[in-house]
Amino acid sequence: MPAIVVVGAQWGDEGKGKTTDILGTSVDYVVKPNGGNNAGHTVVVGGEKYELKLLPAGILSPNVTPVIGNGVVVNLEALFEEIDALESRGADTSKLRISANAHLVAPYHQTLDKVTERFLGKRAIGTTGRGIGPAYMDKIGRLGIRVQDVFDESILRQKIEGSLRQKNELLVKVYNRRAVSVEEIVEYFEPFIERLRPYVAETELMLNEALDRGEVVVMEGGQATMLDVDHGTYPFVTSSNPTAGGSCVGTGIGPTRINRVVGIVKAYTTRVGAGPFPTELFDEMGEYLQKAGGEFGVNTGRPRRCGWYDAVIARYAARTNGFTDYVLTKLDVLTGIDRIPVCVAYDVDGVRQNEMPVSQTEFHHAKPIFEYFDGWTEDITKARTFDDLPENARKYVLALEELSGCRMSVIGVGPDREQSIVRHDLLD
Ligand code: GDP
Ligand code: IMO
Ligand code: MG
Repeated sequence: MPAIVVVGAQWGDEGKGKTTDILGTSVDYVVKPNGGNNAGHTVVVGGEKYELKLLPAGILSPNVTPVIGNGVVVNLEALFEEIDALESRGADTSKLRISANAHLVAPYHQTLDKVTERFLGKRAIGTTGRGIGPAYMDKIGRLGIRVQDVFDESILRQKIEGSLRQKNELLVKVYNRRAVSVEEIVEYFEPFIERLRPYVAETELMLNEALDRGEVVVMEGGQATMLDVDHGTYPFVTSSNPTAGGSCVGTGIGPTRINRVVGIVKAYTTRVGAGPFPTELFDEMGEYLQKAGGEFGVNTGRPRRCGWYDAVIARYAARTNGFTDYVLTKLDVLTGIDRIPVCVAYDVDGVRQNEMPVSQTEFHHAKPIFEYFDGWTEDITKARTFDDLPENARKYVLALEELSGCRMSVIGVGPDREQSIVRHDLLD
């Protein structure tokens, strides 16, 4: 059983962390391929809640080597805060390894993230404000600072100088902010350097050697398909490729080594930040889902916008990522709802479209066409087999399976590690 990819199918917060954590009890490596501390992955172990941002969820399994891949943008301040918080709760983070090729988030990236949002006004993306977009802009623009750069002071200075020459023009002339000095950025990185050293490794080689030995590597994607800079609802997206292909780029693992691509999908839909969302609810039902599902962002505390399950998106995600399995999460949140709508197609300016519209304008105009399913009232949080579920819950899952382009292999019925129904083992 070689590499397994975990990918969000919607707009994030589907429960990727919980899935990785469950797998983590029986795998060897968990690597994060993309994103940074814009992510928030919640894991509940025996009633104890952990909120991970930069660290992969595998960090909570003692048998796992957690890895931050080359595709991640790392905020060192946030990294060590997270490590300290976990250590103070008794977790061992010494096995963590960080790619020397991962890029670093500097304070000016965060400043630029915030001022750009303000500058965009009504067109703002609603970013997490963590500097993720500007850090990836520097990476692609070849002005980035990588983990390996901090270990050579003259290189570090050169890179900071190169980046700041352009940033200061922007900050001062466009955004009316103060210029940043090379010295203050060197001083910002300085206290982290020796602490960082033992964690840094050639993770790309390490992961491939592990696969050669027959060990299992989980690639835990951040964000989600609809937030992908290429395949998502551009420009209302993040600045990386959270889709399955991005996990190869972000780890140095080739596509032929992957044998499972697991999509994580919520039994309804949520979104944080701006952008189109066809099944969004603006009534008390939306508020109900928000409360019942605890839909408040881990990262920024923002309430998540809520809506019904969108099978058009699920099918799009299944084919864009080549999912082999779906993990359907939060089915328990729908308990008690009389009739559950599921979006099966869109009405775009009077024309039925069964698949994702190509143009952004069409997607903005898309109105959901619903099919309705009878709900259930029984508590399902203790169900551990598919047959434990009430008939209508089973019918709902089977209908989603039929509509979503991929089998529903695992069903989540609560936040805890134990609260899952496994129909097909993801590690088989
Ligand atoms: P991620 O970003 O995809 O890892 O997801 P988040 O952790 O941001 O959000 C998912 C939330 O749902 C977390 O609070 C999880 O503890 C919780 N969760 C995951 N699976 C289930 C489930 O099956 N049922 C319920 N009720 N909560 C779940
Ligand atoms: P996890 O991994 C939900 C959203 C932001 C914003 C857009 C761009 O927990 O699923 P960014 O700061 O990345 O430039 O913001 O992307 N976003 C997420 N939404 N879950 C996430 O991560 C997200 N990471 C970014 O809200 O709309
Ligand atoms: Mg999240």
